[in-house]
Amino acid sequence: MAYRVAVYNAISASGLGRFAAPHYAVGKALADADAILLRSHALQLSEIPATVKAIARAGAGVNNIPVDEMSKRGVPVFNAPGANANAVKELVIAAVLLAARNVVPAIGYVQSLAASPDFEKRVEDGKKQFAGVELPGRTLGIIGLGAIGGLVAETAIRLGMKVTGYDPEITVDNAWRLPGSVKRAASIEDVLKSSDFVTIHVPLNNHTRHMIGRERLAVAKKGMALLNFSRDAVVDEEAVLASIADKRLRAYICDFPSPKLQGHAGVVTLPHLGASTEEAEENCAVMVVDQLKAFLEEGS
Ligand code: MLT
Repeated sequence: MAYRVAVYNAISASGLGRFAAPHYAVGKALADADAILLRSHALQLSEIPATVKAIARAGAGVNNIPVDEMSKRGVPVFNAPGANANAVKELVIAAVLLAARNVVPAIGYVQSLAASPDFEKRVEDGKKQFAGVELPGRTLGIIGLGAIGGLVAETAIRLGMKVTGYDPEITVDNAWRLPGSVKRAASIEDVLKSSDFVTIHVPLNNHTRHMIGRERLAVAKKGMALLNFSRDAVVDEEAVLASIADKRLRAYICDFPSPKLQGHAGVVTLPHLGASTEEAEENCAVMVVDQLKAFLEEGS
């Protein structure tokens, strides 16, 4: 059956290869597309031709797609929950280690020493200034215990950390996936009060926008490091900067570049690298292309 898929972002060839050749075209201007396949492109309603019967995102979050309007039109939106969870987990664990050992500011410090005459003394100073902590016995708080949060919990426990988690949506059906030693907190505040590191793994929606703001950060454990590998707007950036200035938050590591956060001590921003591994890109592409194909070719 002939159909046309407009592909808006670079999608792994392992996924695209599952379409027979004439079935997709790369680019936005496909006035008669039957489906849209994308990754990070923020899809506007005006870009969606009336011929579109399905939209697929090669990733977990769907906040860059007008999902409500699509469900009114009866257009399904496919995604790839869990397909990139290991990739995100690995970067989150790396970020916990970076925060624990002050690696990013230490690198900046050493780079600034290049032309310094008292090099050796300043290296010694740096050794003291950037001394860190080890993970066993430290508490990692996880807000959102889905596929990524669950994997992060498992690895953190293997590294000897205590894990406390909060997720109002967890059900008896998916709770079994969580390691038994994850302490279930009653609220986000409880997680923030008791954790040395907190990582957020929730989708962006009306309930989670600016979920971490001034009031909640005010109760955070002093010296906490906050990690955000979910969506930038889940955290109020002004509140984060104020909390770092007050020395309550020690560090904010997030997977989003932000002009507001640029150049602030204690803040590390990444170009949304969490799911950017060969393996995750392939897993996501294969998962959503298979869903699209089944829908377009078999109507299921
Ligand atoms: C996701 O929602 O899974 C990530 O944002 C994926 C990506 O980086 O494309």
